Amino acid sequence: MDSIIVRGNGPLNGQIPIAGAKNACLALMPATLLSEEPLTLTNAPRLSDIRTMTELLASLGAEVAALQDGKVLASSSHGEINPVADYDIVRKMRASNLVLGPLLARLGHAVVSLPGGCAIGARPMDIHIDALEALGAQIELREGYLHAKTQGGLKGAVHEMRFASVGATENFLMAATLAKGTSVLKNAAREPEIVDLARCLRAMGAQIEGEGTSTIEIQGVDRLHGATHPVVTDRIELGTYMLAPAICGGEVECLGGRIELVESFCEKLDAAGIAVEETALGLKVKRRGDRIRAVDVVTEPFPGFPTDLQAQMMALLCTAEGTSVLEEKIFENRFMHAPELMRMGAKIEVHGGHATVQGVDKLRGARVMATDLRASVSLILAGLAAEGETVVSRVYHLDRGYERVEEKLRAVGAHIERVTGE
Ligand code: EPZ
Repeated sequence: MDSIIVRGNGPLNGQIPIAGAKNACLALMPATLLSEEPLTLTNAPRLSDIRTMTELLASLGAEVAALQDGKVLASSSHGEINPVADYDIVRKMRASNLVLGPLLARLGHAVVSLPGGCAIGARPMDIHIDALEALGAQIELREGYLHAKTQGGLKGAVHEMRFASVGATENFLMAATLAKGTSVLKNAAREPEIVDLARCLRAMGAQIEGEGTSTIEIQGVDRLHGATHPVVTDRIELGTYMLAPAICGGEVECLGGRIELVESFCEKLDAAGIAVEETALGLKVKRRGDRIRAVDVVTEPFPGFPTDLQAQMMALLCTAEGTSVLEEKIFENRFMHAPELMRMGAKIEVHGGHATVQGVDKLRGARVMATDLRASVSLILAGLAAEGETVVSRVYHLDRGYERVEEKLRAVGAHIERVTGE
């Protein structure tokens, strides 16, 4: 397993290109199952999760090629579509559950393994099941697999979700595009990845309105055609790299960044004493003063503060002036980065869904372990400004969501290298 070594090396200056959004791409790729014609995605990130989705779609009979230039070519016209999404692939990546809606819409039946829990929580699928059953699917759990079928195809319906689940919104949206009649999804998730999926489905001939709001209306159509769609910029990678100059000092321009992708995050950066400037190329970030101020953070569904930036924000607040309280309201176990940051000298107390961070002057390098995707990058960020050397192990977590992280940070002056492990 690879490790990454980081040494505090002073202010960072320069430009970091932001890739296409992993979490948009993982919803866009299964959309190929909705049409007999090819779907081409551009600006797709080169990540292990994208390779896992490619493997899953191939196991279902789709032909998918993720090219080095960031294009994903996908089609599911050839031969039979296999309706079974196997546990061995699904357990590697929860987003595999996003083939459930498209398979039901295309074939009228599907057998999809439950993803199982992961480090950050149990992550059940009840909201997905309720949403698809509203469209007429019968779904039962047998030996760890969801067995879903419809009598005579999906039918449009009005459905209100108990919680604005991102994945359940995506499954409902894809399924409803081919359902008979009109569907209305209430308390829908509003993330930019949902908006991006709706735009792609519309380019394929779907009739969708209201994406980005809590109520989305879909008119079912008989079939969808192929399309070419650019993947939206990754707002979580954007927020992550905006924190690099915030933590180390200096000035970094995140290319492709747009304020509307990270509005609530920028409000917290502003309160902490970090200036964000919109430029023609993206977002330029630097500290206003020489010390960061403590701020409180509560994670919420979009447009609230993103849970996927909570760990990275904690890394910043470890050396802020004052005490910050972070409340994690989306996942039940998403503070595993805290004990690792404490090994670097951070003063953090975790009680249930709250973490209280008392700012210290400086962190000190240490050996730490990545536990999940966003925790791993928060340790890299902390190491960028710590005294001495930080060694982050199990960085396979990192490679799931961050393309060429060493290269991007080295280009702005970070002292960072990867050690290939046994
Ligand atoms: C998506 O996961 C993202 N993943 C996650 O990013 C992100 O953290 C999450 O949305 C919240 O923004 C992808 O898009 C591939 P949810 P998803 O359904 O769809 C509970 C990353 O780091 N829930 O909105 O799985 C669930 O347990 C990843 O890139 C149910 O109880 O998130 C969680 O506590 C991590 N029943 C909460 O809702 C359900 O049926 C939010 O889940 C579904 C979800």
